[in-house]
Amino acid sequence: MADRKPLMAGNWKMHKTVDEAVDAARNLADRVSGASGVEIMIAPPFTALAPMADALQNTRIGLGGQNLFWEDEGAYTGEVSGPMLKSAGCRYVIIGHSERRQYFGETDETVNKRLKSAIRHGLIPVLCVGETESEREAEKTFSVLDKQVGDGLKGFVADELKTLVLAYEPVWAIGTGKTATADQAQEAHKYLRALIEKKFGKDLAESLRILYGGSVKPGNAAELMGMPDLDGALVGGASLEAASFSEIVLYDQNP
Ligand code: 13P
Repeated sequence: MADRKPLMAGNWKMHKTVDEAVDAARNLADRVSGASGVEIMIAPPFTALAPMADALQNTRIGLGGQNLFWEDEGAYTGEVSGPMLKSAGCRYVIIGHSERRQYFGETDETVNKRLKSAIRHGLIPVLCVGETESEREAEKTFSVLDKQVGDGLKGFVADELKTLVLAYEPVWAIGTGKTATADQAQEAHKYLRALIEKKFGKDLAESLRILYGGSVKPGNAAELMGMPDLDGALVGGASLEAASFSEIVLYDQNP
């Protein structure tokens, strides 16, 4: 099996003022200073990126944007571009989170444009996919993933996707406390990897990291991470506190 370094990522969504973000980041950096086996990312609100980049210099934690617009600059009030994220200290960017799709009208087509921009600017994209509860009940999980991956990655060749990270986030498990079982998550991750292999070949499929997101907590991280196709976690609620997120990051060091 390919050597995939786990990525433990925190998505802070619309939480924390600048001071709260910097405090939490410092606290987290102290707690995870020994976590050499994993990559760590925090995606705070845009307002906290630059001050957090200062606070996190020479630590193990990388920064991510929660979204980006596909044009580099222009008359697009309220939007933030790839070069802006880079200049604020980002290495990663989350794209197509289900909350963006659900509340802000994002589609697979706009996800595709955002992805192109992220890759053009050398940001590591974390592309979120996942089915809703009614889609799962109607046994449409795989066809939803087919469409999100197929349309989201349209027009790319394997070489351009070397840094791509996928995040499987079943919508019914986000913020609900209802985690997918490790077997449910593994089934979806295995499907996604096979899909990537079919479209882009074995090399990319084997090196691609697929994160699981949806009510990941200190108590379930190790079981989820024990699954062969899970290469990390995208954590919402439990990433807001340094104590709980550091336990997730250090999942393999807990008793
Ligand atoms: P929760 O961990 O709060 O369920 O959120 C998951 C998520 O949406 C991460 O992007």
